Amino acid sequence: MITVVGSLNMDLVVEAVKRPVQGETLLGTSFSTFPGGKGSNQAVAAARLGGNVNFVGSVGLDSFGKELQDHLIKEGIRIDYINVDSVQLTGVANIILAEGDNSIIVVPGANFSLSPSHVQKVNEVLSKSKMVIIQLEILPETVERVLELCQEHKVPVLLNPAPAASCTKKMIDMATYVTPNETECVEIFGGYSDEILKKYPNKLIVTLGETGAAYYDGAEIVQVSGCKTSVVDTTGAGDTFNGAFGFAISGGYAIKEAVQFANAAASLSVEKLGAQQGMPSLADVKRRLANSN
Ligand code: RIB
Repeated sequence: MITVVGSLNMDLVVEAVKRPVQGETLLGTSFSTFPGGKGSNQAVAAARLGGNVNFVGSVGLDSFGKELQDHLIKEGIRIDYINVDSVQLTGVANIILAEGDNSIIVVPGANFSLSPSHVQKVNEVLSKSKMVIIQLEILPETVERVLELCQEHKVPVLLNPAPAASCTKKMIDMATYVTPNETECVEIFGGYSDEILKKYPNKLIVTLGETGAAYYDGAEIVQVSGCKTSVVDTTGAGDTFNGAFGFAISGGYAIKEAVQFANAAASLSVEKLGAQQGMPSLADVKRRLANSN
């Protein structure tokens, strides 16, 4: 059983030929809404692959909150541990897709209502989990409490330190795996280099977009190449990597194989619009891995 503790957002996605500059109004080419939020995305990624997934998070008492919960149920994810806040609105992410990449502004809303005391109430679920996956779109004190409880229970935690701004040394020290992208790695550790990877053997795994990912195995730096893909929308690629990596590690894969598996899953996820639409099944990932050898 995998437990994901994290955010749920409704993604409000606008496509445009280019990004507006300050003070400019542009006409876009399309508008869509998609379920998103790094927590929800990582939970769906693990569940699509066949994971038995619990979700711990918080939504508002509004239509987005209801839609996001219904969506998780449809994906086979247990939502008994979602808090419904009667004051704060459900989180939203304003996403612009232009010139082959995205820009995102998240308004956390009810995601910031998930407190350390909520987490305390799901202590038993955490203790029974094979793996806990967490990110930083919820309050840092809640993240630290999850890490403390999991340490007490000796449950491994995969920390995806995104967005990196609220990442603390305590979080890094307590997590079992830490998976920043290159930009987040620079923000957290002051750079991205072999020396930094070497400080965290078999723990710090840096995702490098289409290039793949890198980590230090205690003897050498391991570069795991990404799979060829045709990009439609990169939103959620990192989340797919994390959900798939957590699924693979908790299923007994070694780190290198889990990273290869997660790279393949992420390469499939970018082929469709929306954070979750392209997230693959186990059969899809196995096919991609077989074709990329
Ligand atoms: O990682 C992608 C996600 O970041 C989007 O789904 C959006 O909700 C933001 O949280």
